[in-house]
Amino acid sequence: MIKIKVLSNLISSQTKIHKKYGGVYPALARREHQKNLPLLFEKAKKEAKLKKGERINLVAVTIGPGLSPCLWVGTNFAKETSQKLNIPIIPINHIEGHIIASWFLPQKLRLSLPLPKFKAKMFPAICLVVSGGHTQLVLMKKLGQYKILGETRDDAAGECFDKIGRMLGLDYPGGPAIEAEVIKAKSKKTKLKIDFPRPMIHQKNYDFSFSGLKTAALYNYKDQKPKVRKSKEYIQAVCIEIQQAIIDVLLNKTIRAAKDYKVKTIVLGGGVTANKELRKQFKIKVKKELPRVQYNIPGVKYCTDNALMIAITAYCHKNKARKDWKKIEVDANLSIENEI
Ligand code: KG4
Ligand code: ZN
Repeated sequence: MIKIKVLSNLISSQTKIHKKYGGVYPALARREHQKNLPLLFEKAKKEAKLKKGERINLVAVTIGPGLSPCLWVGTNFAKETSQKLNIPIIPINHIEGHIIASWFLPQKLRLSLPLPKFKAKMFPAICLVVSGGHTQLVLMKKLGQYKILGETRDDAAGECFDKIGRMLGLDYPGGPAIEAEVIKAKSKKTKLKIDFPRPMIHQKNYDFSFSGLKTAALYNYKDQKPKVRKSKEYIQAVCIEIQQAIIDVLLNKTIRAAKDYKVKTIVLGGGVTANKELRKQFKIKVKKELPRVQYNIPGVKYCTDNALMIAITAYCHKNKARKDWKKIEVDANLSIENEI
């Protein structure tokens, strides 16, 4: 059987830089991308140890959605590489990358992966993509055919984690920092209980809203005496409730969409799905309410942005390789519904 061998999968994390500012600043992120990308490429080539006669024969790049200045750095670098090595490019949609990671990059990933293969019996699938910039419920009819059933009307779920983390004085990004506080609190059995709303949970649509949740947390925070705000017990009680409120809304809407559309597969992806409590609660609920539905979730380290998810998506779209690199442009608002 032909397999895909992963020779190198590096990430140049900018969390340290963004930590200082409590969020991502486009100009800063662009500068860091520009500085790090050529170095990372050289490192990856070294790590891959290409043998004599072996060469790079294709380059895949994310052209959107995302922050325009950062997308341009990657895309221009891919174009240069395509021109220099005289090889084709495959432009990739970031959201589709998260979806494909869920199908083909599970927890126990071996050094060589079987070739990605879709079968008709797997569809329709409902995909929940939750990251720092997106919260979308997508109906997947087959590879390359997607319909957005609903999405956030304001903040993304990851953004809500990040902003509340910042309010509480936790590290950036807020998602993993809040998750860590919840784990600590549970081991201590924190008694303080705070209640936040579950926005739009009962509305008969597939949209989300997380800015109200953020505001509820902010008002609650402002109502506290400074001493309470800084206390471990208060911080941990907020973390427990925020995490659970976000999980409740995501879980409820995804299960409902899965039932309404009689799907064969549930697909989760994006940075927020690295959250262990979310993973656990989804697994239990799917097993209980939709036992015949296949449940896909990427391995924890493939939930957040990574190069392998883009490479594997490119493999799925290998017939879309293009030599006309000059014409490739980024689209900060690229929709999963649009074919590239
Ligand atoms: O997909 P991703 O790496 O980047 C974007 O496409 O935005 O997602 C990043 C987001 C951040 O908002 C971060 O706080 C969140 O994913 N995140 C988590 C966890 N790990 C990352 N949220 C909750 N729990 C986590 N363990
Ligand atoms: Zn992402």
